[in-house]
Amino acid sequence: MAISVLVADARTASRQETVALLQRDRTIDVIGDASDGREAVEIARTLRPAIVLLDGSIMGMDTIAVVESLQVNSPESGVIVVIDGTNLDLMRSLMRAGARDCLARPVSEQDLLSTIHSVDQAMQKQREASGATGVAGVKPGSIIAVYSPQGGSGKSMLAANLGVALARETGSNAQKGRVALVDLNLQFGDIDLMLNLNPENTIAGLAQKGHSGMDADLVEQYLTVHEESGLRILVAPSTPQYAEGITVYTVEQVIESLRENYQYVIVDTPSQLQDTTLAALDAASTILVLTTLDLLALHKTKTALEMLRQLYVADKIQVILNRANSEVGIKIDEVESALGVTLRGQIPSDGKIVVTSVNEGRPFVLSAPTSVIARRITSLAQETLGREGVTGSGKISDEPERSNFLKRWFNP
Ligand SMILES: Nc1ncnc2c1ncn2[C@@H]1O[C@H](COP(=O)(O)OP(=O)(O)O)[C@@H](O)[C@H]1O
Ligand SMILES: [Mg+2]
Repeated sequence: MAISVLVADARTASRQETVALLQRDRTIDVIGDASDGREAVEIARTLRPAIVLLDGSIMGMDTIAVVESLQVNSPESGVIVVIDGTNLDLMRSLMRAGARDCLARPVSEQDLLSTIHSVDQAMQKQREASGATGVAGVKPGSIIAVYSPQGGSGKSMLAANLGVALARETGSNAQKGRVALVDLNLQFGDIDLMLNLNPENTIAGLAQKGHSGMDADLVEQYLTVHEESGLRILVAPSTPQYAEGITVYTVEQVIESLRENYQYVIVDTPSQLQDTTLAALDAASTILVLTTLDLLALHKTKTALEMLRQLYVADKIQVILNRANSEVGIKIDEVESALGVTLRGQIPSDGKIVVTSVNEGRPFVLSAPTSVIARRITSLAQETLGREGVTGSGKISDEPERSNFLKRWFNP
């Protein structure tokens, strides 16, 4: 089988030259190319190339950070870095960060090809030695981030109920209900209230304790269990001033540690795109973007989607419409065409059930499981688990026959 290679190089001419050179070799299959670090990591995470050929001039991120991030996001890829000149210190740092080899320019065609083959062989040996599965036979989990640029759009409502629904759905099977929820609303987190938890620990304590390194066991000690469902929650700090101590590093470490032990990790995020939010979106395999039927929310969602599409592959971004049955004169297909998406799901508005559930601290997928809103979220959980949902597609009837003003707004 040909060796799959991702070429990451900021310089267009040199990138194209390398791609052309590699494409001439039948033992190599160039599966993608990238001009900046984030893009390279994103493609690697999705396509899992055998080799990432990374040029030291890569843009957007420091080369060492790119290597580290590749290590986390696509550990089975062997990273080869090409640098200008022989800077031994840099080479050592790159190797320590996880690069398998470093080449100094100018690199001959033969050198390049033989390095790709030898790194590929070394990676194969390593894979055979460690067996097909990861740590302790547990398949690493999927990260689902819930995001919306609009406050009050229902992110926490969805995160809490989806988390509980997934925990319950997975609870009876052999893999155990390993579902975790991280409340990344570092200033005003409210998942603990929604789930009526009495947390002893929060992410603030964990950030402090794990200052110089975290692992799955440490993170486990800081989780609070939601007894009724088995969902495990990393609760947000108790007061806003603790938010400062929580860095991108904390978020990356927390998510990576949870991924080892949990089948699903849901991350509830704030509407602000601060660096910790981006770290969670980066780590996610799916971003559920919530929007609602009002012009301001849709406008923000459109802008946010434009940005997210630049950072991530299209499949990763899935839009869900909350309060989908509001009678406000905007039709669902207008929303879809304005945003340029097919909605992944629709959640109806149900003030009575949602507010009662929040006030009682009991998610409605448990307290009102037969309600339409609960069934929609349970279906979403079941679809996520790869099973058929219990309800239909969620098409809404009685949509008011109304104008095309959204189209005009978004496509002037
Ligand atoms: N589908 C819905 N029907 C009725 N009320 C909802 C719905 N979704 C959210 N809400 C309510 O709207 C408010 C904001 O929801 P929340 O999940 O806290 O938003 P966010 O986390 O995005 O800021 C809450 O009071 C919640 O109970
Ligand atoms: Mg919230």
